[in-house]
Amino acid sequence: FNVPTPINEPVKGYAPNSPERVELLKTLKELKQQQRDIPMHIGGQEIRTGKKQNITPPHDHQYVLGQFHEGDASHVAQAIDAALAARPLWAEMPWEHRAAIFLKAADLLAGPYRARINAATMLGQSKNCFQAEIDAACELIDFFRFNVHFMQQIYQQQPESLPGMWNRLEHRPLEGFVFALTPFNFTSIAANLPASVAMMGNVVVWKPANTQIYSAQVLMELFKEAGVPDGVINLVYVDGPTAGNVIFKHRDFAGIHFTGSTGVFQHIWKTIGENISNYKSYPRIVGETGGKDFILAHPSAHAKAVAVGMSRGAFEYQGQKCSAASRVYLPSNLADEILGYVKEDLASFRMGDVEDFSNFINAVIDEKSFDKLAKYIDGAKADPNAEIVAGGGYDKSKGYFIEPTVIVTKDPKYVTMCEELFGPVLTVHIYDADKFDEVLELVDTTSPYALTGAIFSQDRYAIDHASKKLVHAAGNFYINDKPTGAVVGQQPFGGARASGTNDKAGSMLNLLRWVSPRAIKETF
Ligand code: SER
Repeated sequence: FNVPTPINEPVKGYAPNSPERVELLKTLKELKQQQRDIPMHIGGQEIRTGKKQNITPPHDHQYVLGQFHEGDASHVAQAIDAALAARPLWAEMPWEHRAAIFLKAADLLAGPYRARINAATMLGQSKNCFQAEIDAACELIDFFRFNVHFMQQIYQQQPESLPGMWNRLEHRPLEGFVFALTPFNFTSIAANLPASVAMMGNVVVWKPANTQIYSAQVLMELFKEAGVPDGVINLVYVDGPTAGNVIFKHRDFAGIHFTGSTGVFQHIWKTIGENISNYKSYPRIVGETGGKDFILAHPSAHAKAVAVGMSRGAFEYQGQKCSAASRVYLPSNLADEILGYVKEDLASFRMGDVEDFSNFINAVIDEKSFDKLAKYIDGAKADPNAEIVAGGGYDKSKGYFIEPTVIVTKDPKYVTMCEELFGPVLTVHIYDADKFDEVLELVDTTSPYALTGAIFSQDRYAIDHASKKLVHAAGNFYINDKPTGAVVGQQPFGGARASGTNDKAGSMLNLLRWVSPRAIKETF
């Protein structure tokens, strides 16, 4: 068995009347009529508690798409038991069979599941069809195919043996279960966190964000159809503290695969620390957390390229990508020209629901996020240190809509230059074009995060200099491109500092965290 050399899944265009658009529109309509009743999945059983919560599209919060059944601590305990019961057979299954399951998942997603996963992501998470396609379809297909490829390389890497002996490495799954705690903003990440762990022979308790449950349900159906055995991935809908209280006290807790906020991750790390003597092994702690991603334009930058980087990098998916640009440093010689282009771009962005494919901007994920963003916008309106040069409007009467907003500030430490907002609000600081070194220092020290960042310049010395000075400022560093849109297999994704453990999603490094190798020496 040789794993096919993966290539990135081609992105479909959804042009008017194209077959993919026709199918997607039909699927959107069908899903909206279904009123889905969404159970938890534990040990292959559908669990309905009767404690139902509505799922509504963020862009139309009065429309009920369906309901999910909320669980409690007893369901988390059941999910752990089911995972541990499934573990012996799964952990011993030859890796080729696990590979086959996830290659099949990729093929199902590329074919019959594509429209459904995209439609569910569009409705449940308010993503336009293009953003859904690059996430829920292409990026997830790539995660499956590339991870299987890396998995084969891991299993095949074997140590040298001298005459008279045989050395080998056995990449054992972890001894216990892994907790996958996943975010709303990428369906592909929500799926990859449990899937990459399971692929390496581990069993998983998976808790998605409540705001992603609608597409998580489709993912669970996909896993099942691809052949993931019962109990290997168990999906529970329980609030975070309740889940944590059971999971982090369990002796067989073997690791966490997390994407979410820095605060939650730090709390989890502390809780694991407090319980450390209870566990059989030191748990693997892998997390991607916050960001305050930057764009830095050098005085030699191409103005139009910077503007495109800003408007796409900050506002695609309403700025709710962990990689989204949220602070920008423009040189005084180019600032007016760049901001002029950005305003032109923003004037052309239509905002509205996801079923009209000409809407570039949709709603932010929920009311909490809306209220937080509105507060920052109001703060900027009232602050003499800040000027709103584009957008600034918001309205939650039908959906949680925030206009793409650009704030310009003279104060490089202005609150929205420093704090993570996770929405369509971009803050710009204009610096004296003669003081590039000072701005490099600001970029590096203004935020505790280090996820993504971009420099725009046509001066090779400046690029080299900035790249060295900002060596720890971003785990994904872009030169003359926006800081979003990392492609699996091309730019492994993740950051350090307060942004996470930098175990690069979609890479061998990540998969290696989910095995515990045994070195075996046999003497002849
Ligand atoms: N991988 C995504 C991006 O690069 C973020 O999670 O935009």
